[in-house]
Amino acid sequence: MTSKENKAAAETEERYEFIWPGKKKCIEEAKRECCESLVFDEQNSFMAERTANLYIEGDNLTALKLLKAEYAGRIKMIYIDPPYNTGSDHIYQDRFTAGDAASGKGRGSSNSRSHAAWCSMIYPRLYAARDLLSEDGVIFISIDENEEFNLKKICEEIFGETNRVGEVIRKTKSMTADDGCGFNLQHELLLIYAKDKSRLHLKGEKKAFANYSNPDNDPKGDWCAGDPSARSGGPSTYFEIENPYTHKKDLPPSGRYWAFSKESLKRYIEEGKIKFKEKYRDGERGFIFKRYKADAKSQYEPVHSLFAVENEYMNQSATVELRRIFGSDVFSYPKPVAYIQKLVQYCTDDGDMVLDFFSGSATTAQAVMEQCAEDGCRRNFIMVQLAEEVDKKRNAYREGYRTLCDVGRQRIRLVAEQLKDSTDCGFKAFRISED
Ligand SMILES: C[S@@+](CC[C@H](N)C(=O)[O-])C[C@H]1O[C@@H](n2cnc3c(N)ncnc32)[C@H](O)[C@@H]1O
Repeated sequence: MTSKENKAAAETEERYEFIWPGKKKCIEEAKRECCESLVFDEQNSFMAERTANLYIEGDNLTALKLLKAEYAGRIKMIYIDPPYNTGSDHIYQDRFTAGDAASGKGRGSSNSRSHAAWCSMIYPRLYAARDLLSEDGVIFISIDENEEFNLKKICEEIFGETNRVGEVIRKTKSMTADDGCGFNLQHELLLIYAKDKSRLHLKGEKKAFANYSNPDNDPKGDWCAGDPSARSGGPSTYFEIENPYTHKKDLPPSGRYWAFSKESLKRYIEEGKIKFKEKYRDGERGFIFKRYKADAKSQYEPVHSLFAVENEYMNQSATVELRRIFGSDVFSYPKPVAYIQKLVQYCTDDGDMVLDFFSGSATTAQAVMEQCAEDGCRRNFIMVQLAEEVDKKRNAYREGYRTLCDVGRQRIRLVAEQLKDSTDCGFKAFRISED
């Protein structure tokens, strides 16, 4: 709230805040200590002897609270893809009703969706997740139009407006359906919040430096011709520069100044950063101001908010990908591996830990393993997934999977067959025990 809003609130007892029925209870729930514990599940673990990866079966609120003892402040990246509350029939529950508890279990069967119930589900989980993030950590949250506005309000409250990084648009489908009023929605969002935005350093794609080269064998390496002028300056940065070969005198372009003083000019000439031309065309400056590749502030582009509008990031790619791994459709609406792999690439390095506490078919685990295999870094993952039972009518049930955890764990094992020589593909499985 701004101070003006605060003053107005004090006068009128009205304030700017986001509330819903059940909010107070869910904040209490977020702060409540839990009495459960994590129990090692040897049977479901995979190459467990030498791995730092974890697969936790159970409700994620309890899991997040339990992880705090060991992982508080240690998670560099969280990616989550919570149920969107679409009200549709997926392999997982995607309708939150007024009777839903903050535990996320025992969802009601009423047909009416409740935004309040969804808010009460997500709030305590994000509250607990924040404690796990490292000071330079970041959370990415996939969401669509059903709860986008509520999620934004909750994130602003938990992470703070100043830690809002932005949002990415992902193209979900290419088909041109009409929702009845002549509009075709074919994207969803990824909200990005930092634990502390001033400490976050995202690295986008590697800069191509396409126009850099070294035609004069400069010992400082590749360079390109940069702009020697600046918008602001004064008398100390407004002077003539004389070419020693031709005696041509250059002034800054009209309304501008040199980007350096006379002293710096002298140094630049000695260092070879300013190179005088023996020949030049009419109207051309008599010198080159070299910009070195090695001096670039970053070797990376920023992350672009539209990076995921390419077709390779659409839902359909993910469905085909999962079908290729399992031989049939065992999960609804997984995310494309390439999409989450990009996020892993953009914000993590060697030794970092990635958490997904709505892990579904464990796409995030695959993305972490694929990225490690690609760049040789060592990263680890923690997956959390509720043991949601698979309906008998589903393909996954016919294939022998009884819970969504069976699907997620099997995906990691199947992907590991291809990647196990290049990275840590094992996992220690845990269950939440009430004892
Ligand atoms: C949208 S799906 C995630 C899909 C995943 N990104 C993928 O690519 O496969 C949401 C997942 O969260 C799980 N989930 C819902 N509530 C949960 C809870 N309280 N604890 C743990 N997992 C939960 C659902 O069972 C479902 O598998």
